[in-house]
Amino acid sequence: MQIQDKTIVITGGAAGIGRSLGRACIEAGAAHVVLADRNGEGAMAAAAELGPAARGTACDVSSEEDVQSLVSETLRIEGPVDIFVSNAGVTAKGGLDCSNEQWQQIWDINVMSRVYAARAVIPGMLERGSGCIVQTASAAGLLTEIGSAPYSVTKHADLAFAEWLSVHYGRQGIQVSCVCPLGVETDMLDEDDPVHKFLYLQSITADEAANSIIRGIEAADFLILPHPDVLEFFRRKAADYSGWLRGMQRLQQKFGAANTSGRNASQEIPITPSPN
Ligand SMILES: NC(=O)c1ccc[n+]([C@@H]2O[C@H](COP(=O)([O-])OP(=O)(O)OC[C@H]3O[C@@H](n4cnc5c(N)ncnc54)[C@H](O)[C@@H]3O)[C@@H](O)[C@H]2O)c1
Repeated sequence: MQIQDKTIVITGGAAGIGRSLGRACIEAGAAHVVLADRNGEGAMAAAAELGPAARGTACDVSSEEDVQSLVSETLRIEGPVDIFVSNAGVTAKGGLDCSNEQWQQIWDINVMSRVYAARAVIPGMLERGSGCIVQTASAAGLLTEIGSAPYSVTKHADLAFAEWLSVHYGRQGIQVSCVCPLGVETDMLDEDDPVHKFLYLQSITADEAANSIIRGIEAADFLILPHPDVLEFFRRKAADYSGWLRGMQRLQQKFGAANTSGRNASQEIPITPSPN
């Protein structure tokens, strides 16, 4: 779908990838861009920088009521939503030690928000015979993220829901894209975390990620990969799942050792896990 003249809603629009994507959409000729974020003031400030075609608003995407209001307000003020970008997301470090509350919170933000958005916009898109849903998942949804079970699991679910939407509605005029980046230089990357230091080795800026998302939407790509290497990692995983797991286990062990000895993991660990 072309961005020109479209009405686009972007969640997580106050910062990072969402904020850059708002700018990129305006530059690509969008008619209206609505930046929604639980940080409402941040969203309004980001929109103010983009001029009269942009509006910022408060919305907690883990609340279905908030997402419904976001869509009905957009319909009232700007008109029907052509492209809805479910981008807001959070991470949580840890594995078995993460509490049930942490799991529930990240599930609601990274996964249920996508369900709420689809419920709110797809009926109108079906009536018009056209619409586009974009979900910012992560390379962690195709591969995994060492150090965070909730992030890995919810990003797999994010990708799975996008895939399901595409299968179910693709023949009815609904385009679906799923964005799966590796490291992007935003507040989400923690410079003190050895896994994130590792991601910095191949990180890109939020503007680069946004430009890649625009190209992917306009090319109607389902999988949008701002880091092309992710495709090669995904292919290796599919070709030899057990071998890929053995490579990831070695990587996990190195991170654990680097973590406990205080060594700089990012200088010692090769970016690509060897295949076996
Ligand atoms: N930065 C990376 O390296 C990276 C890599 C892969 C995927 N991603 C994904 O990209 C998306 C955007 O992340 P980012 O890197 O721009 O992070 P960011 O922290 O810079 O921005 C995320 C934005 O989402 C907002 N947000 C968080 N919870 C919200 C909620 N409940 N309701 C509404 N807004 C909420 C935050 O206020 C913030 O403005 C996320 O889904 C993230 O998982 C990021």
